[in-house]
Parts: sequence; structure tokens; C-alpha cells
Amino acid sequence: MAMNSEKIPENTQKLLKKHNQSHLLRFWEQLDKNQRQNLLARINQLDFPKIDRWIADIVKNPSPTPLPADFAPAPAYPPAPADAQQARKYAQASDLGRNLISNGKVAAFVVAGGQGTRLGFEGPKGDFPVSPIKNKTLFRIFAESVTAASKKYHTPCPWYIMTSPVNHDQTIEIFRKNDYFGLDRKNVFLFQQGTLPNFDFDGNILLSGKSTIACSPDGHGGSLKALYESGAIADMKKRRIEFISYFQVDNPLINIFDPLFIGLHALDKAEMSSKALTKTGPAEKVGNFCLVDDKITVIEYSDLPDELAKKRNPDGSLVFELGSIAIHIINTDFIEKLNAEDFQLPLHRAVKKISCIDQHGNLIEPQQPNGIKLESFVFDALPLASKSIILQTRRSEEFSPLKNATGIDSSESAAKMMIARAADWLESAGVTIPRKPDGSPDCIIEIAPAFALEKDDIKTKLDRIPKISPGDKICLE
Ligand code: UTP
Repeated sequence: MAMNSEKIPENTQKLLKKHNQSHLLRFWEQLDKNQRQNLLARINQLDFPKIDRWIADIVKNPSPTPLPADFAPAPAYPPAPADAQQARKYAQASDLGRNLISNGKVAAFVVAGGQGTRLGFEGPKGDFPVSPIKNKTLFRIFAESVTAASKKYHTPCPWYIMTSPVNHDQTIEIFRKNDYFGLDRKNVFLFQQGTLPNFDFDGNILLSGKSTIACSPDGHGGSLKALYESGAIADMKKRRIEFISYFQVDNPLINIFDPLFIGLHALDKAEMSSKALTKTGPAEKVGNFCLVDDKITVIEYSDLPDELAKKRNPDGSLVFELGSIAIHIINTDFIEKLNAEDFQLPLHRAVKKISCIDQHGNLIEPQQPNGIKLESFVFDALPLASKSIILQTRRSEEFSPLKNATGIDSSESAAKMMIARAADWLESAGVTIPRKPDGSPDCIIEIAPAFALEKDDIKTKLDRIPKISPGDKICLE
């Protein structure tokens, strides 16, 4: 039964018919005035010619991304200098990096708009408690790192946080409830990324309700548009920030302000750079750093043929050994340049379970994948940079992604790695660490960012470190 007699605007009807999406207005007669207005507004935001292309090229086309005709492993700076000349460059880069941070040229930027489906945690992933003794959440660890860096470098280090409609309000509430974790509110900038519609396998846009279109965040690659469109880049420009330290919300080991990485990037006049690590084996599910037409490019693990993934050098190392870990330095100018035109990173196809309504208006919570989500990946911007460098790093120092509830890349493995890194840092400063027969620490240690942001910070604090005995729980703050 019609709730009011307002007609569907003719142009909308025509538009949807032309693009085979008329079902979006299937429940029009059952909607009230507000719902109708909202649905029309959302439909008018959609770029149907683009959507038609995505449907033909991606949604209905499950074939893998074609490989470039010719590609090679990408070159990278090693974690430690290989010779005296490189040692001089690393020292110069670290000095430059420290100067850039001290002069307020570097901002922290976390992408936290993901849905975190694998972790299955209620609420934004950044609110997940992860530290081994104090149970600090990821957001708290990052906030304390930003505070510690601001103190260390005697300058306020601003922090930009990208959320999505999935978790924006909850994230704001977490920051508000925690009094912004002690940070100055004016140096914290929260903004939302864009969304893209979800499709069924035939290319029909799904409805999440009778008046709402099923949408999901447009991937971490969406950050490059969202930074610009939200005004974050304008804010950075006002503050004379030149470099953005990009990281993911799920990595508690991130070294946000790394003078060497920032310095090498700046010395080499790069526009977007990356950290990489040696893959654990041919099958590790991380992107592969390659060189395509002289440009650093990431080829996804699923796109790299098996025989190439397994190919080894005479010394036994993998030919394609450098994995991408989503740690980048990106120039504010580069993001401005990209956004000066209607740039679009490639969209990737993800087959997912998508809750939606059926043709009768009944809500479906599928047990099996029933549709396609589209996402862009930030590393696809690397080949667009005029220059890009890679700094290889050590997994134990900087990478422990929190993806799953249990097992690999879980909170348990993250806490273990936080303890292991703390033990290594203390040991390298001369502190004796009790160890089990398998070499793992026989104690639980947590180092707060205020105590040390990196290994070298420990040396000045040795008098504050107690003797550590087997089974001890030590928190250094
Ligand atoms: P993942 O690819 O691990 O996705 O994101 P996810 O949504 O967090 O987790 P799953 O796959 O549903 O289990 C890597 C990083 O990119 C961010 C995430 O918040 C995380 O920091 N991300 C991902 C976004 O900010 N926006 C997106 O649209 C997707």
C-alpha cells in the first residue's frame, strides 16, 4: 500500500533503467518521504557510467589481473648498511629524518576504516587491547607513540586517522571517552573514507534495506582521495607538513617516526616509499615488490605465478623475496598532484558475504559468499610516483599484524612479538634477559612508548631497569 503518492522522478527512473538498476526503487511505494529523499540523494551520487564499466570489467570478470609482460624483483635498501659508503648515507639520512621530524614536517597517518571481519571484534579494531601487561589498545599505543615522539623531537606531531561509515561514530566516541589519550585535540584529525556499492554476481547493486544501498569502504587506497577531500591535506599544508607516515591500525609494532626511512625517502627525492620485509616463504600472503617499466610496483601474492613465487637465487633466497607490509612515506604534494585530476586506482574484486534484502524485502545474512565488494589498494599508487624507494626492515622489529582471532597474526602472536622485541631491545642495551631453552624470553616485558620509541632510547634509561628474573612481569613506562 502506498504511503504517499509522490512519483518517482522521471529522470531517475530513466537513468536506472538505462543502467539496469531499476530494482533499487522496487520498494518506493513503501517508503516515507524522508526515506525516498535519502534514497534519491544516494542514487544521484552514484557514477553510473563508471559503475557499468566496473560491472563489466571486474564484477562479472573473475579472471586474475593480467601480469605485466616483463617484471623483475625490486631493489631495496637493506636493513643495515652493506658497506662504508652506504653507512655514510644511512647516517646522513637519519640526521635528515630527525631534522624533518623536529621541524614539524612529518605527520602520522593511520588507516582504520576496515571492517576487521577476520578478527570478529565488536567495534573498531583500534580499540582492541593488545599489549601484554597493561592491555593497552592499538589506538592507545599509537597515541602514546605520537606523544612520545612530540616530546622527543620537541614539536607537536599531528595524527590523522581515517575511519569509514562502518566505524566512524564509534571511533570518535572511543577518542572522546579516553580524552583523546592525552593528546591535544587540535592535533588529532579524524575523517571518513568513501564507500562503493556492493553487487550480486550478476552486477545488480544490492540493497541493505528498502531505502538503503549496500555499500562498503573503498579500500585503503581510498585514503589517497579521502585525505584530500576531507581537508586533511589542506590542514597539513597549513601546518607545513611535507611527509605522511602511513600505517595500518592492526600493527602494534609500527615505528611511526623512523628517521632513517623518512631521511632516505627525502634524500632520494621520492614521492611515495615503502618498507618491505623478507617473506617467510613463497606462499606468504603479502604483495611482492617488483620493478615494472622501471617503476616500483606491487604484484599481489595471488597474481604471482607459483613457479615465480618459488624461484630461488643461487644462495637459496627467493628471487621475489620482498613482501609489502603497508608502511609508507607519502608526500603531501604527491597526494595533491594525484587529486588534481580525477584519478582512480585500480579496483580489486573481493567475493564476500554481504547482508542485504531480497526481492521481497526480507533481510538475508548469507552463510556463503553472495556478492562482490570492490576495493582499491594504496600500494597501487606506487607506480604513479616519480620516484619510490624501498627500505627493507626486520619482521621482529616492525611487523605483527593483528588479523585473526586465533593462530597466525592474532592477538596472541602480536603480544608475543611485543614481548620478544622488548627483550631484544633490552638485551642489545646490555640487560640480561632470562630465556627458555627455545630462546624465547622467560619473562613478560612491556615497554611503553614513553620509555622507548626505538632501541637506542633504552641506553639513556638503564638505571630505571630492574634485574629481570625468570617468570618476572616487567612494565617499563
Ligand atoms: P585489511 O585488508 O586487513 O582489512 O586492512 P580489514 O577490514 O581490517 O580486515 P578484514 O579483511 O575484514 O578481516 C588493512 C588495513 O587497511 C585498513 C584497515 O583498517 C587496516 O588498517 N582499511 C582497509 C581501511 O582503512 N579501509 C578499507 O576500506 C580497508
